[in-house]
Amino acid sequence: MSETRSVLLVDVLVLLALLGPTQWGAMGSSHCKRHNDEMIRPHSVTITEFGAVGDGVTLNTKAFQNAIFYLNSFADKGGAKLFVPAGRWLTGSFDLISHLTLWLDKGAVILGSTNTEDWPIVDPLPSYGRGRELPGRRHRSLIFGRNLTDVVITGENGTIDGQGSMWWERFRNKTLDYTRPHLVELMNSTGVVISNLTFLNSPFWTIHPIYCSHVIVQNVTIRAPLDSPNTDGIDPDSSDDVCIEDCYISTGDDVIAIKSGWDEYGISYGRPSKNIIIRRLIGETHSSGIAIGSEMSGGVSDVHAEDIVFFNSTTGIRIKTSPGRGGYVRNIFISNVSLANVKVAIRFTGRYGEHPDESYDPKAMPKIERITFKDIHGENITVAGLMEGIEGDNFINICLYNITLSVNSISPWNCSNVQGFSSLVFPQTCELLEESIFPDHCTECYHLLQEHRIRNKGARLLSWWTYLGT
Ligand SMILES: *[C@@H]1O[C@H](CO)[C@@H](O)[C@H](O)[C@H]1NC(C)=O
Ligand SMILES: *[C@@H]1O[C@H](CO)[C@@H](O)[C@H](O)[C@H]1NC(C)=O
Ligand SMILES: *[C@@H]1O[C@H](CO)[C@@H](O)[C@H](O)[C@H]1NC(C)=O
Ligand SMILES: *[C@@H]1O[C@H](CO)[C@@H](O)[C@H](O)[C@H]1NC(C)=O
Ligand SMILES: *[C@@H]1O[C@H](CO)[C@@H](O)[C@H](O)[C@H]1NC(C)=O
Ligand SMILES: *[C@@H]1O[C@H](CO)[C@@H](O)[C@H](O)[C@H]1NC(C)=O
Ligand SMILES: *[C@@H]1O[C@H](CO)[C@@H](O)[C@H](O)[C@H]1NC(C)=O
Ligand SMILES: *[C@@H]1O[C@H](CO)[C@@H](O)[C@H](O)[C@H]1NC(C)=O
Ligand SMILES: *[C@@H]1O[C@H](CO)[C@@H](O)[C@H](O)[C@H]1NC(C)=O
Ligand SMILES: *[C@@H]1O[C@H](CO)[C@@H](O)[C@H](O)[C@H]1NC(C)=O
Ligand SMILES: *[C@@H]1O[C@H](CO)[C@@H](O)[C@H](O)[C@H]1NC(C)=O
Repeated sequence: MSETRSVLLVDVLVLLALLGPTQWGAMGSSHCKRHNDEMIRPHSVTITEFGAVGDGVTLNTKAFQNAIFYLNSFADKGGAKLFVPAGRWLTGSFDLISHLTLWLDKGAVILGSTNTEDWPIVDPLPSYGRGRELPGRRHRSLIFGRNLTDVVITGENGTIDGQGSMWWERFRNKTLDYTRPHLVELMNSTGVVISNLTFLNSPFWTIHPIYCSHVIVQNVTIRAPLDSPNTDGIDPDSSDDVCIEDCYISTGDDVIAIKSGWDEYGISYGRPSKNIIIRRLIGETHSSGIAIGSEMSGGVSDVHAEDIVFFNSTTGIRIKTSPGRGGYVRNIFISNVSLANVKVAIRFTGRYGEHPDESYDPKAMPKIERITFKDIHGENITVAGLMEGIEGDNFINICLYNITLSVNSISPWNCSNVQGFSSLVFPQTCELLEESIFPDHCTECYHLLQEHRIRNKGARLLSWWTYLGT
């Protein structure tokens, strides 16, 4: 008895040494925290001081540009705040600067102009090589920032409304010359906070941080009609240390889509999306709740999503890729997801298609591995999983743990070219994912063992090792 016990303790110590510090615990408390002292701006101006009129009709682009130009002189003096009071402030695209807080008071609504000429044409993103939906250049976002540090867009639940219906109509009737603009795009910036606001009716993706680090999106509401084209909620793109929390998002396309560039352009730009936390998110969409890809050519890794609710949606979690993309998706951990009225709970698509041009390399295969889904519960699900990898390029080390879905279909799982493990999955998963996680394969399951250690410290850890030892 005592001998068995000492062996167990040794095992536990070895385990603790192997696992090292609790990586996610540490990350969670660092990159979801903003630095409060940066938030207090010693200088403040109100948009009306620059001639803006909040009648919903007067175009205020010049007022925003002039106010921000003026505030540039405070950038090295602790920064400044641009206060937007209650009113309806129509504007075209404008640029932010470093050390700026754009503050929308209660009742403040920034309205995007419905004239395409108020949204200038800019170069395509280098990691895309062309506009996402049309070749060539693209419209600049309503609120844009480039090469910035310490920029905050916040307030008391003011609203930024892109008035996107004109763009959606013109997309549908094919009368646009350039790719549609985002509502907010920040490029090559660090120390970005977007919080306590409502975003409505984006022409295209709503919030698009690209080539950014240290981005926090917190406590925002994003809405666009469920049938509006490509109105994604938040798209972290070739960005790292991103935290998205406490958001409500109901849109026409993916609630959150993590991306990193498109085929040969994304491969050569080579900037991954990594260290991304998503938590306490509620969403609804006719597309996917959390999507990774389909543009993932710069790689996506270390994504941790938890405490998520998706309802009345087409797909819960989806990984989309294609031959030609190259890159990788690895170390993804998704847990505590609740789904209701969702057609497909989990979906992998290995042949998404869509290439920027004919110069992509069809032999550039994406590497998809170490993807863990844990504690997923679903009511009124049509299909549990459509798990389609790529022939000759299996998606590997896929782990499903503690998943309970009430499914209508008679063939709940459909798997091809995937390999992985599962435990406690109902309805029972497909053969390719059927091998048991415990005890042989738990180390192949990203984060699962560590998660056990964090949640079940002490007595339960010991009983866990007793179980493994038998
Ligand atoms: C990114 O911004 C920094 C300044 O903040 C600048 O030095 C650098 O050249 C920029 N890089 C790109 C690719 O825009
Ligand atoms: C950002 O940095 C890049 C690279 O240094 C430069 O080409 C570009 O003009 C800068 N843009 C702005 C708005 O500062
Ligand atoms: C979320 O934002 C609203 C106003 O938009 C505010 O009243 C509330 O306190 C915020 N909650 C958190 C957790 O920041
Ligand atoms: C913010 O306002 C929107 C409507 O504009 C509302 O749906 C949302 O619940 C409000 N958010 C908070 C946190 O008060
Ligand atoms: C396309 O839609 C726009 C916006 O609704 C409209 O102004 C335009 O007349 C339409 N053009 C055609 C050719 O249908
Ligand atoms: C959001 O608003 C709440 C309530 O005013 C405030 O406590 C919180 O700090 C704000 N959060 C951010 C990230 O601005
Ligand atoms: C799971 O997420 C829900 C919110 O979606 C939350 O209320 C609940 O506390 C979470 N459960 C655990 C065990 O963290
Ligand atoms: C979801 O859809 C069902 C069926 O269409 C509807 O009854 C329900 O109100 C919707 N739920 C929400 C929260 O909108
Ligand atoms: C079940 O979900 C489907 C959509 O997938 C929806 O049309 C139907 O109304 C839902 N049934 C119930 C009872 O909510
Ligand atoms: C399985 O997940 C559910 C939430 O969906 C949770 O309440 C339960 O404790 C989990 N069970 C195990 C064995 O982890
Ligand atoms: C499984 O999915 C493939 C597409 O990946 C489809 O062609 C096939 O019909 C599906 N099989 C079943 C039984 O649903």
